[in-house]
Amino acid sequence: MPSKSVNIAVIGTGVVGSAFLDQLLRVKSSIVYNVIYVARQRVALLSKDYKALDFGFSWKNALDGAREPTLSLESLLEYLRKSPSPVILVDNTSNPELANFYPNFVRAGISIATPNKKAFSSELELWDRIFPKEECAGLVYHEATVGAGLPIISTLRDMITTGDEVEKIEGIFSGTLSYIFNEFSSVSPNNNKFSEVVKAAKQLGYTEPDPRDDLNGLDVARKVTILARIAGFEVNSPTSFPVQSLIPTPIESIESAQEFLEKLPEYDDELGGLKQSAVDENKVLRFVGTVDFSNKSVNVGVEKYDYAHPFASLKGADNVISIKTKRYQQPIVIQGAGAGAAVTAAGVLADVVKIAERI
Ligand SMILES: NC(=O)c1ccc[n+]([C@@H]2O[C@H](COP(=O)([O-])OP(=O)(O)OC[C@H]3O[C@@H](n4cnc5c(N)ncnc54)[C@H](OP(=O)(O)O)[C@@H]3O)[C@@H](O)[C@H]2O)c1
Repeated sequence: MPSKSVNIAVIGTGVVGSAFLDQLLRVKSSIVYNVIYVARQRVALLSKDYKALDFGFSWKNALDGAREPTLSLESLLEYLRKSPSPVILVDNTSNPELANFYPNFVRAGISIATPNKKAFSSELELWDRIFPKEECAGLVYHEATVGAGLPIISTLRDMITTGDEVEKIEGIFSGTLSYIFNEFSSVSPNNNKFSEVVKAAKQLGYTEPDPRDDLNGLDVARKVTILARIAGFEVNSPTSFPVQSLIPTPIESIESAQEFLEKLPEYDDELGGLKQSAVDENKVLRFVGTVDFSNKSVNVGVEKYDYAHPFASLKGADNVISIKTKRYQQPIVIQGAGAGAAVTAAGVLADVVKIAERI
């Protein structure tokens, strides 16, 4: 029997996209993966006859020499629609326009694998259009949008599909805030100041160029929105529930990240007081996202945890999620690296393989 072939279009060759292509080109499978399109913002490699692109010595060199302009989204849709084999579009960008365009691909029968959170954590109406009920629609897998390569979304979906009911989801979903709170508030008492830890995290490359993009809690809110929706909680948007920002209001709009970091020590007492109150109760502080079905609430912010709780002993920049369901009264806990090129790309590749097996 001839082997099954699937055409792959890859958009984005940055940190995750590069690792993804390296892994895809080495994958061992009975399915043949033909890469027919690789795009950066301005240039692309495109196979006009839908045969696998010939990268020669390396895909990076081939892309460096590319002269073809990146297709507009409409042209990409037309190109992929005409593919003689089933197509999987791999979106390795954080581009919102591409995310908003997913419903057009899906309706045309094109499947999508992506670590891009944008589409799944925007308005609920977009979510509904990405997962239509029609039989011929493309499949959409997005494991790496929460916890990178950790099997969080697949586990949650399997629970729901088999009739389990989620009671509570609780987790540390930001590698950056995981590192910051693990260093700031540890089981063995320390005198670390919040501003010092934030500075150290930036120096280690754990934060966004402007740490306020981590401290505002929005990235965690987006991930919690995705998990809540999968669990059956109709969250309108990541701003439709309480999200605690760790940015002191007076320095919220300061222009430069440098100036923000210089002023941050002036506000150390606020979180310092909370840290002391946690120590007095034999607890630590952690920045968590929670979906609680018992009181129908979704929240993102700082919480206290007993020293014996799995969240208290977290190390480095790890993510952790605890899922309590009707069947799992003793919650399932999934923990591990929640960012990084290799693990995130592996999460995307595992989705590509699952889609290819199903289409
Ligand atoms: N890095 C991680 O550890 C991690 C973990 C979990 C999830 N993610 C998610 O993975 C995605 C990619 O992250 P990354 O760190 O790899 O980002 P990145 O290094 O900034 O790479 C982004 C890539 O997307 C390309 N791109 C952006 N807009 C495009 C467009 N309109 N058309 C074609 N290409 C476009 C960029 O092209 P140019 O090369 O031309 O600039 C670049 O190659 C994001 O959604 C991120 O949130 C990342």
